Amino acid sequence: GKVRAPTHIISTISDDRGEEPCYAGVPMSTIIEQGYGVGDVISLLWFKRSLPRYCTHFIEICIMLCADHGPCVSGAHNSIVTARAGKDLVSSLVSGLLTIGPRFGGAIDDAARYFKDACDRGLTPYEFVEGMKKKGIRVPGIGHRIKSRDNRDKRVQLLQKYAHTHFPSVKYMEYAVQVETYTLSKANNLVLNVDGAIGSLFLDLLSGSGMFTKQEIDEIVEIGYLNGLFVLARSIGLIGHTFDQKRLKQPLYRHPWEDVLYTK
Ligand code: ACO
Ligand code: LMR
Repeated sequence: GKVRAPTHIISTISDDRGEEPCYAGVPMSTIIEQGYGVGDVISLLWFKRSLPRYCTHFIEICIMLCADHGPCVSGAHNSIVTARAGKDLVSSLVSGLLTIGPRFGGAIDDAARYFKDACDRGLTPYEFVEGMKKKGIRVPGIGHRIKSRDNRDKRVQLLQKYAHTHFPSVKYMEYAVQVETYTLSKANNLVLNVDGAIGSLFLDLLSGSGMFTKQEIDEIVEIGYLNGLFVLARSIGLIGHTFDQKRLKQPLYRHPWEDVLYTK
């Protein structure tokens, strides 16, 4: 019989050996000729399946909403400083990307993990938030530097509106909103932020679409796919900021002494 040499790599998402590349078994010609969008490509390469249009459009909305948030946020600031130090596109991009984490843009997976666990266990918002406080953990997906009760994040509202119209269930988002109502009773800036909105709504997408088993949802949440949405989206803005600085021929950045508190 045939002897199969052992392989060093196993891959299940794409195949470039044929006449044309395939993403999760779908040939490139189908992707182009059937008018697939970037949400479909993400579905194929990340989730290994085609998702209904309302899901792929939701993914595209997340990408568009998170593409940029001005020059002052951590990621853009790093990219701008790096570009002004004369570094290349990739260096400027990754310098911005490296700021994405638990405080900035990278709280989506933890928001999904904690909201899912608390909601599935039937914890009241009071029990959940106070339990987190006792453990000394800030609630991921809650809080914002400039957004507040009276200055809500439009992105969150747009995501919620879309989901209310198109999702069969918004159970997790409603739970996140109840948590927000409780945290807002403690402080004005403890709003549901864009990470928390995406985290909770993606749980609704995964469980409401009928496209994933319970085990698959647990695996997606455990591995942590969702920060990838912010990383992918914000790359668009970070690349834009890098080009902007180069176009403007901005010199080396040096932070002003007056803005530093020198103290012993
Ligand atoms: N859960 C519970 N309490 C909180 C939270 C939270 N998520 N955020 C702030 N607080 C409370 C705390 O009591 C904090 O006091 P402490 O420093 O003793 O813990 C107090 O509010 C003051 O907080 P600040 O430090 O002034 O809040 P800041 O404006 O610096 O932080 C931030 C904003 C980083 C977003 C914060 O709210 C946080 O860590 N949130 C959780 C992580 C998260 O969701 N990040 C994503 C933000 S959206 C984005 O980046 C695209
Ligand atoms: C962002 O999307 O970068 C923001 O929500 C963070 C911020 O502080 O504005």
